Amino acid sequence: MEKTFVMIKPDGVQRNLIGTIVERFEKKGYQLKAAKLMHISDELAGEHYGEHKGKPFYDELVSFITSSPVFAMVWEGDNVIAAARQMMGKTNPQEASPGTIRGDFGISVGKNIIHGSDSSESAEREINLFFDEQELLQYDKINKNWLY
Ligand code: TYD
Ligand code: MG
Repeated sequence: MEKTFVMIKPDGVQRNLIGTIVERFEKKGYQLKAAKLMHISDELAGEHYGEHKGKPFYDELVSFITSSPVFAMVWEGDNVIAAARQMMGKTNPQEASPGTIRGDFGISVGKNIIHGSDSSESAEREINLFFDEQELLQYDKINKNWLY
């Protein structure tokens, strides 16, 4: 089963959106494998957003993501990497469709509430960056025949 890394950014935590966002993933049917509220260090921010180093928004992005706690999660399910990106909506909340997390709750690209891995390579890299293997829990929930 596929796994992805999803993170509620400092603006989402500050705006009390943790419960609402977790609820969307739970209700969709995905299984929560790991979660923690944490403060991102400059070093971790640099690794996580390494692909954006040198871009005009990079310094602001790193100072934003390290400014206040984030809520980091791992979700599991069939096709969850692409589905989480769809649930989040486009990077710029002004272009994100209503019904998506960014479309419903965000206004500006700099404060767009949520991060989600964009590929299976990113998902594996980001999960390993934020979580130790033993933090990912294996447990039974409802019989998956009700979902699949
Ligand atoms: P990116 O990986 O392109 O978007 P996504 O989060 O949808 O995968 O960019 C990473 C973050 O950088 C993005 O969520 C918000 C910020 N950002 C800006 O502040 N300005 C920009 O023009 C872009 C493209 C991104
Ligand atoms: Mg990205």
